Amino acid sequence: MHAAVVTSFDTPPHYQRFPTPTPRAADEVVLDVLASGLHPRVRSQANGSHYTSTRELPLVPGIDGVGRAPDGSLRYFVLFDTVMGAMAERTLVDPRRSVVLPEGSDPVSVAAAMNPAMSSWVALRRRIDFAPGQAVLVLGATGAAGRLAVQVAKHLGAGRVIGAGRRPDRLATLTDLGADATVLLDGDAAENLGRAAGDVDVVLDYLWGPVTAAVMPAVVTNRADPGTPLTWIEIGSVAGRSAAIPSAALRAARLSIVGSGQGSVPTDDIMAELPELAAEIANGTFTIDARAVPLTDVEAAWTNSAGTERVVITP
Ligand SMILES: NC(=O)c1ccc[n+]([C@@H]2O[C@H](COP(=O)([O-])OP(=O)(O)OC[C@H]3O[C@@H](n4cnc5c(N)ncnc54)[C@H](OP(=O)(O)O)[C@@H]3O)[C@@H](O)[C@H]2O)c1
Repeated sequence: MHAAVVTSFDTPPHYQRFPTPTPRAADEVVLDVLASGLHPRVRSQANGSHYTSTRELPLVPGIDGVGRAPDGSLRYFVLFDTVMGAMAERTLVDPRRSVVLPEGSDPVSVAAAMNPAMSSWVALRRRIDFAPGQAVLVLGATGAAGRLAVQVAKHLGAGRVIGAGRRPDRLATLTDLGADATVLLDGDAAENLGRAAGDVDVVLDYLWGPVTAAVMPAVVTNRADPGTPLTWIEIGSVAGRSAAIPSAALRAARLSIVGSGQGSVPTDDIMAELPELAAEIANGTFTIDARAVPLTDVEAAWTNSAGTERVVITP
């Protein structure tokens, strides 16, 4: 078969022949892949920088996707920590880590949306006790996961959702997705955000790094009652891996900082959320910008994906 194959962590995957996988365990099946998303997590898998990387090569990237199982069912599947990834004509799937999709679901939309949507869905449903009516700030709301976080928070009952990002054109589109307010992260980000966020209860943070370090004190101190709990959920780190959090931010309010992702949420909890989320995505509940790219063009897609759509590789 053909696959996207990483032979060096310094270069993008190449389209080339690769041995067709055979089940290693009784609970594995070989599935015909239809679509697999090129998520940031897949890039860090392919360049060896993800915290779960074992540095094993060669490696076929792709952590999830949509495919046709031997029983004919259309399935969304998740793969964890394997060198036999999803960007191939066929891959190995544990059916317990997959969800049957309604026939007629669009494989590209589902493959594009599940990973970024899961980041906020799982955080709000499994990482904290989120209560309907609470106010949610999405820090880094212009990327795929942030745009979905705005929609997911509203769908799960948020009373008010504020989207913050650095690109005005993308911020302007968030109102149509359900955002009640938007804040531009420019030179006055801390001041603007502190004023606009108000009594926020939950922060979904995709940025971290110096941005979070700069805005956290303002968000924390601009609340009417500092004794009301504020939960800051670290989900992504596109602005920086480390953040110098001022100690006063932790003392000045009832602030909890937690992370949400593979490890901090048990795999069983993540899997338990997939059917409902997949059903919503298959039904078109959430808007996602996706662009299908044939597997043959995977190398070019890796280097030329400057657009805002989520690239989805289609064998
Ligand atoms: N923990 C989890 O469960 C989980 C699951 C999925 C994703 N994630 C993580 O979430 C993050 C976002 O994922 P994604 O799929 O949304 O990626 P994405 O579509 O590439 O979006 C990232 C966005 O971040 C914005 N950005 C980059 N640097 C910024 C900065 N300094 N200040 C403000 N905005 C900045 C960019 O927006 P503009 O160019 O428009 O400014 C970009 O569109 C990644 O770190 C990913 O690994 C975590």
